[in-house]
Amino acid sequence: MSTYLNLFICAIIEKNEYGVKKMLDIINKAELMHDLNKNEIIQLLEDEQYKEELFKAADRVREKYLGNEVHLRGLIEFSNICKQNCLYCGLRRDNKEVERYRLDKETILDFAKKAVSYGYRTLVLQSGEDFYFTKDLMCEIISEIKKLDVAITLSIGERSYDEYKAFKEAGADRYLLRIETTDKELYERLDPGMSFENRVNCLKMLKELGYEVGTGCLIGLPNQTTESLANDILFFKEIDADMVGVGPFIPNEQTPLAKERGGTFEMALKVMAITRLLLPTSNIPATTAMETLNKQGRQIALQSGANVVMPNVTEGKYRALYKLYPGKICINDTPAHCRGCITGKIYAIGRTVSNDYGFRKK
Ligand code: SAM
Ligand code: SF4
Ligand code: FES
Repeated sequence: MSTYLNLFICAIIEKNEYGVKKMLDIINKAELMHDLNKNEIIQLLEDEQYKEELFKAADRVREKYLGNEVHLRGLIEFSNICKQNCLYCGLRRDNKEVERYRLDKETILDFAKKAVSYGYRTLVLQSGEDFYFTKDLMCEIISEIKKLDVAITLSIGERSYDEYKAFKEAGADRYLLRIETTDKELYERLDPGMSFENRVNCLKMLKELGYEVGTGCLIGLPNQTTESLANDILFFKEIDADMVGVGPFIPNEQTPLAKERGGTFEMALKVMAITRLLLPTSNIPATTAMETLNKQGRQIALQSGANVVMPNVTEGKYRALYKLYPGKICINDTPAHCRGCITGKIYAIGRTVSNDYGFRKK
């Protein structure tokens, strides 16, 4: 072999070894220091070779800081009426094809009681931005549910400081408000009429009021870059999010983004795993949208950094009507069935179901 060829081969081997070392160094650094810069995050997101190492490192960090317990949150989808028009969402106000519903207070309480009887210690009340649920009505619902001795999470969109304060005083403990994307321009294009600054401000107000604050992002939005996803992860770290929900964007045929490609399970998993490395004590759900793209999605997510699952406890036909995207799991199942199903999946991977309220362990 000529000397030149030899040198050339050596250079390739060295370069690859350097590449291997570099990716593993980044993963090790994240696992030990819980800190990465934007370039390092981008490299991890774009790497195909060492993703399994990344997922394993996230799993180790989860186990080290949070143990093997999985927290279950029972999700009540109490209204699919929304005044907003987010381009990606099936509940957007311009979608005339969806049959709208709004549960009354008694039905919400009934679902809450049933969920408690299945053993849930946290209930999540989620809806479109439906202002039929005024400050007073929400406070009544919250204080009634609070009597059931559960932690309450709200996920009802943007409200005023005064309303957030009243909900907190009525007994709400946590609030989920995904930033969706930290790319302001993309955010305002996809969420017409909404302002990025106001979204960030809502998160600030919620923190200030003492809520456990959850945020998160959609993966695979049109024109979203890996740099933008890296910024999302750094944002979660910057605000020290107590909960972070990451899910693939799944195009809905009844929306303007029907023809988009959507996000992949794998990229959502990478963003989630890196988030775990940087935020070792945050509560991170294995999201429903992940399982929609992959039959074992929630189990894989639980083995790649997640420690929370949010099974649906909405009863009857409403599950199917709360249609953010196609293929949503569990729409024909009952809360009792889902509870048994998810418990089985959790124990099957050697984990246990927590019996406590599931607040963030700092
Ligand atoms: N209206 C509240 C809000 O927007 O914060 C809460 C309910 S909203 C339906 C909950 C989440 O659904 C949003 O934060 C968004 O990330 C997610 N979502 C909406 N459309 C989606 C889609 N097509 N694919 C995946 N997730 C979607
Ligand atoms: Fe409404 Fe939330 Fe859907 Fe946007 S994401 S249209 S605010 S339900
Ligand atoms: Fe609903 Fe498995 S969690 S059927």
